[in-house]
Amino acid sequence: MNVIVIGSGAREHALCRLIGRSYLCEKLYCFPGNYGISQIAECKNISDTQDIIKECQKIKPDLVVIGPEDYLSKNLAGELRNLNIDVFGPNNEGANLESSKEFMKEFCKSHDIPTAKSNTFLDFDSAKDYLEKNHGPIVVKYDGLAAGKGVFVCKDSEEAKAACSKIFIEKIFNKIENKIIIEELLEGKELSYFTITDGNDYLNFGSAQDYKRIGDNDTGPNTGGMGTVSPAPILNEDLKQRIQTQIVLKTINGLKIDNIEFQGVLFFGIMVDQDNNPFLLEYNTRFGDPEIQSISLRLKSDFLSTLHATATKNLCYANIQFINKKSICLILATRGYPDDYPKNTIIGNLNTFENTEDFYIFHAATKLENNKVLSTGGRVLSIVSLNESFSKCRETVYQIANKIEWENKYFRGDIGSNL
Ligand code: AMP
Ligand code: GLY
Repeated sequence: MNVIVIGSGAREHALCRLIGRSYLCEKLYCFPGNYGISQIAECKNISDTQDIIKECQKIKPDLVVIGPEDYLSKNLAGELRNLNIDVFGPNNEGANLESSKEFMKEFCKSHDIPTAKSNTFLDFDSAKDYLEKNHGPIVVKYDGLAAGKGVFVCKDSEEAKAACSKIFIEKIFNKIENKIIIEELLEGKELSYFTITDGNDYLNFGSAQDYKRIGDNDTGPNTGGMGTVSPAPILNEDLKQRIQTQIVLKTINGLKIDNIEFQGVLFFGIMVDQDNNPFLLEYNTRFGDPEIQSISLRLKSDFLSTLHATATKNLCYANIQFINKKSICLILATRGYPDDYPKNTIIGNLNTFENTEDFYIFHAATKLENNKVLSTGGRVLSIVSLNESFSKCRETVYQIANKIEWENKYFRGDIGSNL
């Protein structure tokens, strides 16, 4: 098969690694890709949606796999399907589960899926009125895609009003019209849970725990994710059953009832309370980054055949198997991230580490210039180890993180500790 992966991060590097090693893969492209990806796939510097469509018409791939959510919400999948190209990833209607918090909440309400109680607001004054009557901790969410910056977990209504003001008055998301939801704060432990579906059948695709804050012990601002462990340590059999019946099945059935076609992955962000009850925090309609980096090393079955079966609605013939081991992904970021950080800093000895079956360094933001590897973003590398125990994975990822010669590196010290 000829396959095109869309995207340029460590997630897409992990997807390309899995696809490229499949016996079914003849030729693998990644648009636009990055330096790390270029070592295993042909990268083309194309990122505009219409340009991607034109290139797909030329290459006539057997499958297109879309990594990032913004392409899904712009309906790249739908446009490619209209040209009879098989795609892994939902049309914009399915992608709405991720790109509109209000849509997600309505969907949960109509299909009885447990989630935090919420209200929608279209202007600052009505949000403020509501917050004057509702004190205590509360969560404010911007309705649209916001690259992980649209959720404000507030300790009281004053903080919540400030968040509303940022959205409605300062217009930090650069939109004239804005919509928010305000919802109750849920307490507990979080996990990321993945299910692949062709709209009819579904198969589970593992779990992970994401470390979202920049600092050790979950301190400091939220980031795109500073590390993951897989499988999620809190996922016992009882919880799995509850997630299956109360969230996964109801979602798949809800999509059918609402006539929403969906060929892709559902990534459920879940909060588990102290009685082991799962609540849906969010849907994502693509693989998680950095979740897929750790999950991918545990996959035993052929990934490309699963993706192709999904895209062609043949998932009933597919199966997914995992290696019974643990994995950890540690993110190396440029010091300063998620605020300002320098670009084009030199990473010295990256090519001296050999990737194997149980160790891999995925690239998120690197380029090669004059024979030197340079950083081009905030989160730059994902170091992943697969082993019998989380503590052995930790030993490996931290040993390598310390050996990498990069003056500007930053990483959390507690990924997978105490497990
Ligand atoms: P979301 O993009 O909706 O997953 O939110 C990002 C993060 O904000 C989640 O991973 C949680 O850590 C936190 N969060 C979102 N909604 C809530 C909630 N209702 N209660 C507590 N924390 C939340
Ligand atoms: N790791 C969270 C996400 O991909 O949205």
